Amino acid sequence: MADVLTLDGLDDPRLGEAVGALEHDGLVMFPHLPFALEPGEEAFLSTEVFSGESKNVSYDPASGKVGGTKLEGDPLERMRAMIARYSDFAQTVLARVAPTYGPHLQLRRTSFRPGPVDTRVMSKRKDDRRLHIDAFPSNPNQGRRILRVFTNVHPTGLERVWAVGNDDFEAYAKRWVGQVTPRPGGAWREAVGLTKGRRTAYDSVMLQLHDKGKLDDAWQAGEPKSRLAFPPGATWMVYTDSVLHAALSGQHAFEQTFYLPPDAMTEPARAPVRVLERLMGQPLL
Ligand code: SIN
Ligand code: FE
Repeated sequence: MADVLTLDGLDDPRLGEAVGALEHDGLVMFPHLPFALEPGEEAFLSTEVFSGESKNVSYDPASGKVGGTKLEGDPLERMRAMIARYSDFAQTVLARVAPTYGPHLQLRRTSFRPGPVDTRVMSKRKDDRRLHIDAFPSNPNQGRRILRVFTNVHPTGLERVWAVGNDDFEAYAKRWVGQVTPRPGGAWREAVGLTKGRRTAYDSVMLQLHDKGKLDDAWQAGEPKSRLAFPPGATWMVYTDSVLHAALSGQHAFEQTFYLPPDAMTEPARAPVRVLERLMGQPLL
């Protein structure tokens, strides 16, 4: 399975192995690296904070904007401060785990997930309980890596449970690459606001790889996978664009997304864009 590097804390002598573990499609996991809520913030651990159909509260660290919640006024401000504090926490942790990435890391959305891992009936394509790599139709990343930091903040002991696939990105890509066609999006998609930035050939291939695996019942059943349980107080990080993962159960988590240009990796050749260019014999950016 994807290797898990389990560390005691930020002073663990094996911390220096973390970047290698991440870049080799493994997870880095701290069973005891909690994000502490402040008095009163437990009240936000409730699906009552959501607006409409939202399943996450999102926070944009660049603008301070919060989305997906119906809270207003003082409660909204206190929730915003809590999520901003988590964003700072995730940045501090990652700066220690991957110091060489420092100036190259691009801070993206923070998400607060007080709802249960989604069990509603939904399309296979949207169902993150099915094994997948992350690729998002409206958010082309143009070859940059997607590195995510998660923390379970469940107040009374519920683990967050994932499955992770055995295959690394290259094995997964080899399985499907003969069936995908690079279809970069026209500039119109961006102009009318369908995508945030240009959908490159790489983005189109990643979306197809995401869908191929998610929609294939036989592959879902047959791909060897392992169960991973993250207890409350655990913080973990993973390149979700290359590690096959599925969220099976749990409630109350935070997540911070970072992008990283492949050239800032210790081993840029392991970036999905480089792996796919090699397998497909053509440039994708
Ligand atoms: C996902 O990235 O598929 C969901 C992870 C989670 O919410 O635990
Ligand atoms: Fe995912």
